[in-house]
Amino acid sequence: MIIARSVKELRKVLDHVSESIGFVPTMGALHSGHRSLIDSARRDNGYVVVSIYVNPTQFLAGEDLSQYPRREEADFKICELCGVDLLFYPETMYENDEVSIKAPDVRGFILEGASRPGHFDGMLTVVAKLLNAIRPTRAYFGKKDAQQLALITQMVNNLVMNVEIVAMETMREKDGLALSSRNVYLNEVQRSEALKLSSSLKSATKMVMQGNFKSSEICHAMLCILEPLDVEYVAVVNRAFESIPEVILGNTIVLVAARVGTTRLIDNVWM
Ligand code: PAJ
Repeated sequence: MIIARSVKELRKVLDHVSESIGFVPTMGALHSGHRSLIDSARRDNGYVVVSIYVNPTQFLAGEDLSQYPRREEADFKICELCGVDLLFYPETMYENDEVSIKAPDVRGFILEGASRPGHFDGMLTVVAKLLNAIRPTRAYFGKKDAQQLALITQMVNNLVMNVEIVAMETMREKDGLALSSRNVYLNEVQRSEALKLSSSLKSATKMVMQGNFKSSEICHAMLCILEPLDVEYVAVVNRAFESIPEVILGNTIVLVAARVGTTRLIDNVWM
């Protein structure tokens, strides 16, 4: 596995690659969710690039940028074992006074965008830079970050970027907890509290399976399960992230964001 620490080093290698390139952008502290993205990239493409970069511009002041888990050695091993050809591990992706991407006014500023104003600007900017640096055939993203995935897909369309965005299912622990690099912040009690997120989504699925499609009733039932967590939002939206009064099968995402202690967790289910 080649490790490139700057765009210049990266291009020196990739300029000689003629196969299809599968790209998985990450912030490291790799878990089985990341691995499923890497495995798919490996299956679908001749050449696989993973990036590990804790992008400062997508963290708000007061968020966990300085505590964000950094596991260089373990992450390098995982990439090597997964058959990654090139690991992009830049020191920084920025210089002073840069041009940047702005998230769309509506879809970029609801739900996650409302809770974390500016987050999506930073996320989209770094993803645009990474896609332009690597120029992959396909880039892989998790449905776990549903709004991120929707905005990246929109950016690629709006800016006419030449890459296929591949959406991957959310990987979970046996008990339902969605894998996240931030789960390491949870102590034992908080970890069991965190299960309320996936339980609330399971109950949403059950309601729909029993024929109750009403968004308000689904959200109410979810909030009862989530109590006493500090819930930031529960929402029922279509794939374009517009609020819908009733679930439309094949075009719905039910989402939740809540704090367990100081740890902010998100989860969702696609119906
Ligand atoms: P990070 O949180 O490291 O996630 C990297 C990719 O892994 C994202 O596409 C995310 O949706 C996916 N992922 C996370 N948890 C998952 C799970 N349980 N199952 C499946 N996929 C999962 O998301 C980011 O980094 C950053 O915002 C990034 C896109 C790299 C830009 O900085």
